[in-house]
Amino acid sequence: MTSSIVVKPLAGSLGAEIFGVNLSTELDPATVAQIRRAYHEHLVIFFRDQDASDNDLARFARYFGELAILPPHRQHPGSLPELLIIDKKPEDSLVFGWEWHSDTTHLEIPPLGSVLAARLLPAVGGDTMFANQYMAYDTLSDGMKAMLKDVRAVHSNGHILASLEADDVLAPGQGYNSHTTLSAVHPVIRTHPDTGKKALFVNSLHTERFDNMTVAESTPLLRFLFEHATRPEFTCRFRWYPGSIAFWDNRCCQHLALDDYPGQRRLMHRVQIRGTRPE
Ligand code: SIN
Repeated sequence: MTSSIVVKPLAGSLGAEIFGVNLSTELDPATVAQIRRAYHEHLVIFFRDQDASDNDLARFARYFGELAILPPHRQHPGSLPELLIIDKKPEDSLVFGWEWHSDTTHLEIPPLGSVLAARLLPAVGGDTMFANQYMAYDTLSDGMKAMLKDVRAVHSNGHILASLEADDVLAPGQGYNSHTTLSAVHPVIRTHPDTGKKALFVNSLHTERFDNMTVAESTPLLRFLFEHATRPEFTCRFRWYPGSIAFWDNRCCQHLALDDYPGQRRLMHRVQIRGTRPE
């Protein structure tokens, strides 16, 4: 039976809650089409009160594309090879995704999007923020848009590995041995393959410098772009409850996991959908 979903925007810039869908069952094509429309319109969509297993998350994500398999060091024996477990334990100081970013842009083909489910939450805190990168592009001056039109940037996971080492999560040198340092070059302005809209595509967690330029030359303008991309009026903030699920579009929004629940545990399960080369 075809259901009619209810879409409630969460903020003026992006984000909407979707009601009338049960993600623990198969969805009919008409319902998936409605969800896809809401996803394209709101960039990140949220579901509440779901009783979805990891397999349910994977089935839901597959309506939107193939799942991305994780590198071996990220996989957990006994769980789906596509399942990323984000587990901040009370004794951990570093929160996964603590700076604004799009997921794994150090890869040649970053994911299309991710589906994230809450499994265990702190009593309070641990919200996730999202920022609309179409708006970030649209609000640049014509001069800046023209200047950035054909510019490309180098993205890497070096900053993440260095932070993990600095925080004693990885022993000195361990990050660079057991987790390969990877980098990729992407356009600074990308065009969304489905909507045809342009989005700013740099983020402070991964973008190191402009291609063919030094870090020193790149940093002032990149700093401006990082700040501009996450201006408060481009954002929404999502509060998690048991049964909450988020599904974001990695091609046109950034996100940030708030680090405001020291001494508590937060456990999240995520699957990623394979993307296409940013163009
Ligand atoms: C992430 O995917 O970067 C983590 C988001 C979160 O845990 O809220």
